Amino acid sequence: MKVLITGGAGYIGSTIASALEDAGHTPVILDSLVTGREEFTRGRAFYRADIADRAVLEQIFREHPDIYAVIHCAALIVVPESVAHPYEYYRENVSKSLELFRTLNDLGAKRVVFSSSASIYDLVPGYMVTETSPLKPGSPYARTKYMMEMVLQDLCSASGLRGIALRYFNPIGADPKMRSGIHVKNPSHVLGKLVDTALGKNPVFEITGIDWPTRDGTGIRDYIHVWDLAQAHIKAVEQFDQVFERLDPPGQRYAVINLGTGRGVTVRELVAAFERVYGQKINQLDSPPRPGDVAGAYANADTARRLLGWEAQLPIDQGIADALRWAELRETILHYA
Ligand SMILES: NC(=O)c1ccc[n+]([C@@H]2O[C@H](COP(=O)([O-])OP(=O)(O)OC[C@H]3O[C@@H](n4cnc5c(N)ncnc54)[C@H](O)[C@@H]3O)[C@@H](O)[C@H]2O)c1
Repeated sequence: MKVLITGGAGYIGSTIASALEDAGHTPVILDSLVTGREEFTRGRAFYRADIADRAVLEQIFREHPDIYAVIHCAALIVVPESVAHPYEYYRENVSKSLELFRTLNDLGAKRVVFSSSASIYDLVPGYMVTETSPLKPGSPYARTKYMMEMVLQDLCSASGLRGIALRYFNPIGADPKMRSGIHVKNPSHVLGKLVDTALGKNPVFEITGIDWPTRDGTGIRDYIHVWDLAQAHIKAVEQFDQVFERLDPPGQRYAVINLGTGRGVTVRELVAAFERVYGQKINQLDSPPRPGDVAGAYANADTARRLLGWEAQLPIDQGIADALRWAELRETILHYA
């Protein structure tokens, strides 16, 4: 199958492209490289352009009339940046995605898989969220994802498109074959900071928030290996039509699926796992929560099992080990200016 991946030069999109190739499929990449890396597109059909560039999409569909599905990963993704620059986030993630979906529909595309985020959920007692749990996106970034879910749902009801929104929890790790991984120089997420502390780039790892009502007071998340996440996309594409046959009630044109492991892990538990894998203690410090921090959430992963026949396989230790291996290797693959 041929699959168009927007944002296919990014962390997750490039891992999906590798997983597609390993499964015998052909990725076609559309990415402006606004944050992504050209190195991740080598050897693949690659169009360097914006998702709102209709002429390029027309060219892509002319040159690849056999595109079976589109995976829309392209977005700006940094939460604090979205608070400081909301216009840019709404323009890139909302306006441009709207144009992309319209163009895709005009060009006869039928199947869209959308990268959504668990950051749109409200806090719930016990921290486990199902797809019908209440939503309360807490940042401009999260609101762009929430808005695009609604847009996609409405477009699917009124057009030839059908859509699957995949709500990712907290991706970690790298491609196990080390073709791609986190590419930003100073990662802001928790595992990136742990890796930087281990490698001496960061003097101390701060545990931000120790008084949440969780089992040890630290925030709880659902860390999913990016390779498992990529495998879920393969299923979403291969099983796309079956997903809609399995929906209850039948006849729906839009589906939402959580992609997580189904296991909540606290920050202290993550640090303990990291120290176990790394084999050394990490310099750490308890700190107050940062503005906007929340206790967290983890996935109820039953829908993914039922609709996609998928569940996460890789243990958190492998995510940590692959993140460490990638951090040591990446400058041999990525050539930073
Ligand atoms: N990384 C996470 O923790 C996480 C969690 C939940 C959801 N997601 C979603 O997954 C998707 C991929 O995230 P990622 O971590 O791989 O981020 P990333 O920044 O590594 O990749 C995003 C890619 O999109 C490209 N892009 C952005 N705007 C574009 C535009 N207008 N036109 C063309 N290309 C454009 C960038 O160049 C980049 O290659 C995003 O939609 C994000 O919201 C990520």
